[in-house]
Amino acid sequence: MSDPAANAPHHVAIIMDGNGRWAQQRGLPRLKGHEQGAESVRAVMKAARDHGVRILTLYAFSVENWSRPAAEVNGLMTLLPRFLRKHEHLLHENGTRLRAIGRLNDLPAATRKDLFRVMSDTESYTERQLVLALSYGGRAELTDAVQALAHRVRSGELDPEEIQPETITAHLYAPDLPDPDFMIRTSGEQRISNFLLWQLSYAELYFAPALWPEFREEQFAEAMRVYAGRQRRFGGVTSC
Ligand code: IPE
Ligand code: IPE
Ligand code: MG
Repeated sequence: MSDPAANAPHHVAIIMDGNGRWAQQRGLPRLKGHEQGAESVRAVMKAARDHGVRILTLYAFSVENWSRPAAEVNGLMTLLPRFLRKHEHLLHENGTRLRAIGRLNDLPAATRKDLFRVMSDTESYTERQLVLALSYGGRAELTDAVQALAHRVRSGELDPEEIQPETITAHLYAPDLPDPDFMIRTSGEQRISNFLLWQLSYAELYFAPALWPEFREEQFAEAMRVYAGRQRRFGGVTSC
């Protein structure tokens, strides 16, 4: 049998979109869509593991999402620690380190508590990583990086001429993470919505029609089939 990990993307990033529409279609409150979406997170974590994906980055809450009604924001902020408490055993069972990228200080203390606890409890795992983008924005991340660089220049520690793309990468929220190989967005929308603007430079993009709560093992497997058929060139030429 062929090794499923042989052609698998090392790092998959997902814009989990369509929870609200899923709920709306059923006459349910939007929060029910988010709860159903959390089940897809569990399913996709397992599917990604089975397909040999090592790093899974999930866009869970954007800086722009703070503008949503307070009830929805609060619902999402309590859903996250509930999800972590319920499923943290999966991280331990699969040697998965939990990480978070974004303006984490903006999260309510109660949300941060379980997040930081589980991140710390799984810190030593090296097999897989689950990265949650929370209060995340690509422009916010680049702005934070530029501010940090400006401070280093002002203090005389860094010469402006020394700034290279790698210097910028080194000031991102998770500088050691390799760029995503594959970016999936669900719900049929075909936009980036301020996700990983720097890191997606050469990612393969895939837009799935399914709403996030309907995106499970089968839809993930289909995405992996699509990825396997892609030819990446990174600006060069292929010899075949
Ligand atoms: C994605 O689903 C989840 C978050 C942004 C938190 P949405 O809530 O954006 O669902 P739609 O796009 O309104 O259907
Ligand atoms: C992107 O979805 C953010 C997350 C999935 C967390 P949005 O629903 O917020 O994006 P837009 O508004 O459709 O661009
Ligand atoms: Mg949306």
